[in-house]
Amino acid sequence: MAYTTPELAQLAGQVLAPNYGKRIGMDIAFSHGKGPWLYTLEGEKYLDFLGGIAVCCLGHAHPKVTQAIQEQAGKLLHVSNFFLIESQVRLASLLTEHSFADQVFFCNSGAEANEAALKLAKKYAQDRAQPQRYEVVSLQDSFHGRTIATLSATGQSKLHEGFRPLLPGFSYLPANDVQAAAELIGERTCAVIVEAIQGEAGVRPVADEYIRMLRELCTERGALLILDEIQTGMGRTGKFFAHEHACIEPDIVTLAKGLGNGVPIGAMMARKEIMEHLTPGSHGSTFGGNPLATAAAVATLETLFEEDYLTRIQELSEALLKGLKDLKKKFPRKIKEVRGRGLMVGIEFEEATAIHEALLQRKIITNCIRGKVLRLLPPYVITRAEIDLFVGELGAVLKEQGS
Ligand SMILES: Cc1ncc(COP(=O)(O)O)c(C=O)c1O
Repeated sequence: MAYTTPELAQLAGQVLAPNYGKRIGMDIAFSHGKGPWLYTLEGEKYLDFLGGIAVCCLGHAHPKVTQAIQEQAGKLLHVSNFFLIESQVRLASLLTEHSFADQVFFCNSGAEANEAALKLAKKYAQDRAQPQRYEVVSLQDSFHGRTIATLSATGQSKLHEGFRPLLPGFSYLPANDVQAAAELIGERTCAVIVEAIQGEAGVRPVADEYIRMLRELCTERGALLILDEIQTGMGRTGKFFAHEHACIEPDIVTLAKGLGNGVPIGAMMARKEIMEHLTPGSHGSTFGGNPLATAAAVATLETLFEEDYLTRIQELSEALLKGLKDLKKKFPRKIKEVRGRGLMVGIEFEEATAIHEALLQRKIITNCIRGKVLRLLPPYVITRAEIDLFVGELGAVLKEQGS
């Protein structure tokens, strides 16, 4: 039975958990997409500058990913991890070939990837007869997920409300404060977990020098450095991993969002001498690395590398940042800052809610963080013309609202 959009919205209000609240897009339903475009049930067309929050990195209905999913679905959706899964092994080989890591554990989401990383860090310390080393240091304003452990690692007290007490042993550093890090990271720290750009905090880059300093400090004090690349990985910042900008090698990296271009999958990666502590029976996931998800991810990764998307992202990024910086010159009182790397961009305003709403009315999808920042995470398949279209529409909204 087909629903109209208002019928769907009404039913959703009755049968869905209320955790996503009354969001601005709750009266819009998309039926399909193509590249960076989404189409509603009524046939209206939207330009997607959010990509499902950094998920649809190759755009919607990418032919190679769609073909891989269709072929895999016609053969085998799932078998347990008691058996060899060809696409899982191929995916792990691709990920290790393009990173510092030797081995990969697969799961289904970003939070699960971080859970696995935190468990591995604890296990690594305990296997080395250091049971006192169980504390985890993360950054204020960070976001690492919604499970109890990853929420404990998330440095935002607003998100902790209603869920206390959280797990013991988690503390939060002010980003880019070298002195505070040197004081907090010590012999009880099993891991430091950090995002290279804090996406959920409003696209706040962490300085490369600070990440290098954390690397040195972790090595010196015997803690593992975990890079949460769930939002920044998969080429989003113009390099395959954002930590490559800082020229460091982390101990553990987590990945999810864009990995399956929309099919849920997460990954936790490490060098062999660390990953070997994830001993048989110590961790697992029923769906993790299943044939369907890994087939989609193999197609996504192969396309990303074979079609040299990293270069394209860097070129598109230059055009987008230039367009936005030009707008900032035109509207200096409205735009406070344009920041980010690659196709992960934040525009900070005095007040962004009305701008976000006006863009949506003009059929352009962005995300508004804390009423101040517009977050842009467009798919890598956008064209220069679509960037110009976005910048033009944003300029028109700012003009309409008065400088
Ligand atoms: C940096 C970071 N870590 C972890 C997560 C959690 O990922 P998921 O929602 O897939 O559990 C997110 C999601 O926004 C994220 O941006």
